[in-house]
Amino acid sequence: MVYRSHVNGILRLKDVGQKVTLIGWVQRKRNLGSLMFIDLRDRSGIVQLMIKDPTKVPDVKHEYLIQVQGVVTKKAVANTSLATGEIEVEVTTFKVLNEADVLPLIVDDVTDAGEDIRLQYRYLDLRRRPMQDILITRSKIMQAFHVFFAKHDFTNIETPLLTLSTPGGARDFLVPSRLTPGSFYALPQSPQIYKQLLMIGGLERYYQIARCFRDEDLRADRQPDFTQIDVEASFLTQDEFLSFMEEAIREVFKTVKGIHLPQPFPRLSYETAMALYGTDKPDLRFDLPLSSIPLILKQAYEKAGFESSNLKGLKLPNAGGNLSRKVLDEWVTFVKPFGIKGLVTFKLEQGQIQSSFLKFVAPESVQELSRLLDLKVGDVYLVASHADLNVLNTAMGILRTKAAKLLNIIDEKKMAIAWVTDFPLFDTNEEGHLVAAHHPFTRPQDQHLSILNTQPKKVLAQAYDLVINGYEAGGGSMRIYDKEVQKQIFSLLGMTEEAIQKKFGWFIQAFNYGTPPHGGIAFGLDRLTMILTGTDNIKDVIAFPKNLKMVGLLEGTPNTVETKQLDELSIQVKEKK
Ligand code: AMO
Repeated sequence: MVYRSHVNGILRLKDVGQKVTLIGWVQRKRNLGSLMFIDLRDRSGIVQLMIKDPTKVPDVKHEYLIQVQGVVTKKAVANTSLATGEIEVEVTTFKVLNEADVLPLIVDDVTDAGEDIRLQYRYLDLRRRPMQDILITRSKIMQAFHVFFAKHDFTNIETPLLTLSTPGGARDFLVPSRLTPGSFYALPQSPQIYKQLLMIGGLERYYQIARCFRDEDLRADRQPDFTQIDVEASFLTQDEFLSFMEEAIREVFKTVKGIHLPQPFPRLSYETAMALYGTDKPDLRFDLPLSSIPLILKQAYEKAGFESSNLKGLKLPNAGGNLSRKVLDEWVTFVKPFGIKGLVTFKLEQGQIQSSFLKFVAPESVQELSRLLDLKVGDVYLVASHADLNVLNTAMGILRTKAAKLLNIIDEKKMAIAWVTDFPLFDTNEEGHLVAAHHPFTRPQDQHLSILNTQPKKVLAQAYDLVINGYEAGGGSMRIYDKEVQKQIFSLLGMTEEAIQKKFGWFIQAFNYGTPPHGGIAFGLDRLTMILTGTDNIKDVIAFPKNLKMVGLLEGTPNTVETKQLDELSIQVKEKK
């Protein structure tokens, strides 16, 4: 006998009268004595079984796996909450294929289990429809990318997982070498160097759905092993490349979810993004731009003896009702860890701006300030200051998002996509040294090559991020293909010739043989899946994720290994101090 003749979720009225063999898990059971109903679930959905004499069938519990034969019949009263709700299957034979222990979590669309239990029993959590839907969407996204890249002559190429430490912000995961004791491979943070070598190798168009590994603090949108849709192409300008990648993203969103994205995607420079939204990954589903503040207020800050070198305002239209004193106090506490000492607020009451701060404003200037702030009844205007503009921007950017949530002005249905471009080539680290903002192979903008040595902090890069609903969904750059420029960059980054040779000699060597102009991008598959499935937790979109402590609760990773294994690797474990 076959396991099944039909999947459960496809049975409809047209099948009435059909003899069927079905298999699935017991989702729900209602025993009415003379009749019993079972909701039978497989991946395709649920169908109701009707058993005429319950005493004749074995007792089954949640998640027992059963196989039945029966006849599709029309239900007298349809169950509109089920796709198969107009029919049921009248069971003739009934077999238990596998029993199930008492379950640690409810296998249903909504489960009451905490995250740890869900991760520990992930295989049961994965039986839940919403989890399966997410993984199916993830798979569709990958398939849509494959289709796009195949159509446009990209070659899918795998690159090594056992590799060298590559430059990137995060710490590497290391793998000890048995045959070369004391030496280590690194798991790739991205295929960056290899994809550039593929361009030097003349492949012209590469893509890969690549696993990447980064040992960095985890967040709601970060996992230690994650997946990139990694792309590199030769002989395309930044504009041509971005249009091409837009086409890929438009096609994926349309195919997977029927979402039509704008053509072209809006673009905003890093400088504008920071000035208006305080972040390089703004959520553009709502407006609420940060604003510079009138001179009168700056003078008032000075008079009050507050830090006044940088000030930023945030106008919250029609927020008064939601912004009680208590909420504002909470916000002050909220922004403190970000370095902001306090928030000054203004409101309009009886045609007058009101603020405890007005005592620092010259009486003759109050009217002018009122005009400049242009508040309507119900508007609230918040002001903060900080000596470091970056700190101020970041804090106000985070407050902007918090305010939008409180005011309930985020349109969850909207897909707000944009390229952020013109990033600075360098950042400055805590010791004041230049570090690569993206990575050291990023090409400076042509018009800034002449100031590379003299004013490196002013140099902008041919680098871009794709931002969707406040997530950095992808990032990339055009690469340096002139070895003199590459040397200059390394030297600005404080690397000696010897250090360059030691770390990248093998890579730089490849640039001696007619390197093509090239550039690329990597999209975060996990984040794209989060966006397309509407979850804000990256663990939801990965079949077997790690928790925030980087622990795999299901399999118990990481774990200790046998002394024999360590001996083979010539490794001795030290007590952590
Ligand atoms: P980048 O480091 O910006 O660029 O990474 C590209 C994209 O990968 C996703 N991403 C992550 N997703 C989940 N968990 C993480 N820990 C994580 N880190 C990054 C983000 C990000 O935009 N080699 C370059 C790309 C290039 O220049 O072509 C790179 O890796 O969505």
